[in-house]
Amino acid sequence: MEKLCAVVLAAGDGKRMRSARPKVLCEVLFRPMIGWIADTLAQCGIEDVCAVLGAGADQVRAAVPDFSWVEQKERLGTGHAVMQAKDFLQSRRGGDCAVLYGDAPFVDAETLCGAYRLHKESGAAVTLLTASLPDPTGYGRIVRNERGDVARIVEQADADAGTQKIREINAGTYWFSVDFLLHALEELRPNNAQGEYYLTDVVGIAAAQGRRVCGYEAPNSRIAMGANDRKGLLHLNQLARQAELERQMAAGVEIVCDDGVIIQPGVQIGQDTVILPGTILKGKTVIGKNCVIGPHTVIEDSFVGDGCHVNACQIEQSRLEERIKIGPFTHVRPGSHLMAGVKIGNFVEVKNAVVGENTAVAHLTYVGDSDVGKNVNFGCGTVTVNFDGHDKYRTVIGDDCFIGCNSNLIAPVTIGSGSYIAAGSTITDPVPEDALAIARARQIVKPGWAKARRLRLGPRKK
Ligand code: UD1
Ligand code: CA
Repeated sequence: MEKLCAVVLAAGDGKRMRSARPKVLCEVLFRPMIGWIADTLAQCGIEDVCAVLGAGADQVRAAVPDFSWVEQKERLGTGHAVMQAKDFLQSRRGGDCAVLYGDAPFVDAETLCGAYRLHKESGAAVTLLTASLPDPTGYGRIVRNERGDVARIVEQADADAGTQKIREINAGTYWFSVDFLLHALEELRPNNAQGEYYLTDVVGIAAAQGRRVCGYEAPNSRIAMGANDRKGLLHLNQLARQAELERQMAAGVEIVCDDGVIIQPGVQIGQDTVILPGTILKGKTVIGKNCVIGPHTVIEDSFVGDGCHVNACQIEQSRLEERIKIGPFTHVRPGSHLMAGVKIGNFVEVKNAVVGENTAVAHLTYVGDSDVGKNVNFGCGTVTVNFDGHDKYRTVIGDDCFIGCNSNLIAPVTIGSGSYIAAGSTITDPVPEDALAIARARQIVKPGWAKARRLRLGPRKK
């Protein structure tokens, strides 16, 4: 494609969403709606994008940092919104510009490019995406002329009973010749039921000039779906979730029951991996082959190697190599790297730690800010004591160590390879290789003491 530009209308305030944030930041599968549009534009190779922003502009800019932007101070309609991008358009005369609405996230690259091809072949002044919906209520209706071109778009509020029966609707995505668009913006008037400047009125302006307006009917009407309120947003989430699950299954992922399974587009999952109910996979996550993930697991921005079992766990920004078994109820926090064959069990938290091959941390343990070697066995209830209330320190444990139950390793501390920490120890000093460290008070036994006390105090109170 030649160099193209786009204007994205995103000045809506989300009143019907009852949200404190701008509507276009409402999320579908954990991605703001405007982010979906940014992805589509990027896939089409369109990098020159101007967003029209209103309230909450700073938040929207943070979500789409590559877009340039203009402000629409008053919301006087979609036509008025595009007028705000006049300077942007002026400097792009001679080219073509896409206009998209920020609250319709499902426009895909294939459809946008298809519409562009029709736009160029037909030489139209405007080419717009349309879709046929079983229930077109609320959308602008497409009125075609005898040639099959678009003659008018009639908004719901302005449509008579006959027009309301038309099922072909305006999807809210357009290709314009920039020169024509600049001319048409000068001509727009707010002559309609809402008293707004409708972008859709450019169709009549083109006709008056004898220019063609083409309608590109999308093969999949889903691309027209927008969200104006929470119910609409849930519907978009449901559609997107189902589509993503189907895509994953087509690639060989097994989903036994999809209750509560949410997979963000872009997550990669290997063949024959089984995803169990209640599993949420987000962000830049990659999961290998032959894994079992879930039930009740959240994995975000993480890598999980082949053959791992992850049961009822939360994993964030971490890397798990192959054949790891973790859970149930394990939390792997950011910056962790678990090597092949590691086992992490019930109620264990790992944070910012490297855990070497085949090391086992089976129960009730905290491993934070640590470098742990291979084949280490952690007893139940071990704590790497990494924080003194002011600073954090690292614990370094060599290969083949045995850490007895209920030990505290007070960082910074180093445990040499092959060493043995006696249960109940609080280790404050370095332990050399192959040593035994016992750091606890010696036991005292006083024979008969308890019996004497019982006799002295009498029966135990209930
Ligand atoms: C619009 C179309 C309708 C189409 C539908 C598709 C018009 C007049 N109508 O209706 O034909 O079927 O979209 O979804 O264009 N916006 C601004 N500034 C404004 C007004 C709107 O930035 O002053 C933005 C909104 O943030 C939103 C988009 O433009 O992202 C569409 O506006 P909205 O009010 O939702 O239009 P619809 O009534 O849905
Ligand atoms: Ca809308």
